[in-house]
Amino acid sequence: MDHSVALLREGYRFVPNRLQRFRSDIFQTRMMGGQKALCISGKQAAELFYDNERFKRQGAAPKRIKESLFGVGGVQGMDGEAHRHRKHLFMSLMTKESLKKIAAICREKWQQSATEWETMDSIEFFPEAEKIMCRTACEWVGVPLWAKDLSIRTKDLSDMIDAFGATGPRHWKGRVGRNRAEKWIRDIVERVRNDELYVEETKPLYVVAWHRDLHGNLLDTQTAAVEILNLLRPIVAIARFVTFGALALYDFPQTREKLTHEDGQYAKWFVQEVRRYYPFAPFTGALTAIDFDWQGYHFKKDTLVILDIYGTNHSPELWSEPNRFKPERFKDWQGSPFDFIPQGGGDYDRGHRCAGEWLTIELIQTSLTFLTQDLSYEVPPQDLSYSMTRIPTHPKSNFIMENIRVK
Ligand code: HEM
Repeated sequence: MDHSVALLREGYRFVPNRLQRFRSDIFQTRMMGGQKALCISGKQAAELFYDNERFKRQGAAPKRIKESLFGVGGVQGMDGEAHRHRKHLFMSLMTKESLKKIAAICREKWQQSATEWETMDSIEFFPEAEKIMCRTACEWVGVPLWAKDLSIRTKDLSDMIDAFGATGPRHWKGRVGRNRAEKWIRDIVERVRNDELYVEETKPLYVVAWHRDLHGNLLDTQTAAVEILNLLRPIVAIARFVTFGALALYDFPQTREKLTHEDGQYAKWFVQEVRRYYPFAPFTGALTAIDFDWQGYHFKKDTLVILDIYGTNHSPELWSEPNRFKPERFKDWQGSPFDFIPQGGGDYDRGHRCAGEWLTIELIQTSLTFLTQDLSYEVPPQDLSYSMTRIPTHPKSNFIMENIRVK
């Protein structure tokens, strides 16, 4: 049977529910038009999944994901030497200095927006945070963004993210967003290459526009646009974690106390716990590159394997009281690349682990520091619940704030 419908109905709990029912770390299902898939979860599963000898990414992402979320020709679908070379392009942008720059930009955008919010009765925090992240992303990458275009650019990047687990109108919005955004960025890459647009050499836009592949060729403008969107889009996605961070501050007020009064260490644990506790990326997928056996199961070459991200981050075998929000748990965490995988696991340079994980941590922390130290606000009654069957999810009310004051 094709379980795509169950997947959409059960969302983040689709894989964990079945693993619990079968009392196993692996089960077989059919998804996306009847394709056989093996679902795996846990630390050992992640270790297996990030073994480059046994898995490949080319052909792994379904067409509808490439049409909306990923685009075609980007780093996500590459393997071997070509992947390492392209991944190096991304990782070279994640230096300490570069992260400091984006944190400073982000802080400035929070300040500017907060001054505007003081004049308003209330705001919806989630879409506001997305706009702040969009402005931050464009300035850091070097992409010009006119004030009049802010709403549409933010919406397009946001719609691509929102299309991940969607069929129907949400998927179509993601496709429209991708098509418009790709055209926007293709034009900008062409203008950089034709010397019509000046951009500093250290800016990601410059680095990607003049990047050469393993054969010494520039990327075609379409691929360059896809990779630049692989920077802009996920930075906008950080707004979801920031909104969940704001929710955590509200739902668990004792953490706000500690965040305000304790040293920077607690803030780091808090950010990690936001990324572990709240649902965002549900799973990731790859194809087997060879035939092999694992835990008594035979994996045939070219089988789709799904690694359960949400379930691994909530596994009772790996985390005590996994469904409790407890930043202190990170005090004793040993830092394995395979048990805490909100943005994928394994190695950054040789594997497909998220290129922007350090940047994500930096911007969540910058944003939450601003919320706790520079802003006062009230949270009126509203529906702050979030669906576990909608992928990706966010608080239903978008987190409304009132009486906002800059301290
Ligand atoms: C890959 C999640 C932010 C750039 C990934 C993967 C996940 C992920 C699950 C796939 C891992 C795999 O398949 O093994 C997230 C989440 C984010 C986030 C939840 C928070 C909002 C970012 C940021 C950037 C970024 C801020 C860049 C500025 C990438 C790239 C890849 C990737 C380029 C592909 C890496 C590869 O295929 O080698 N991310 N990410 N992500 N992410 Fe992120």
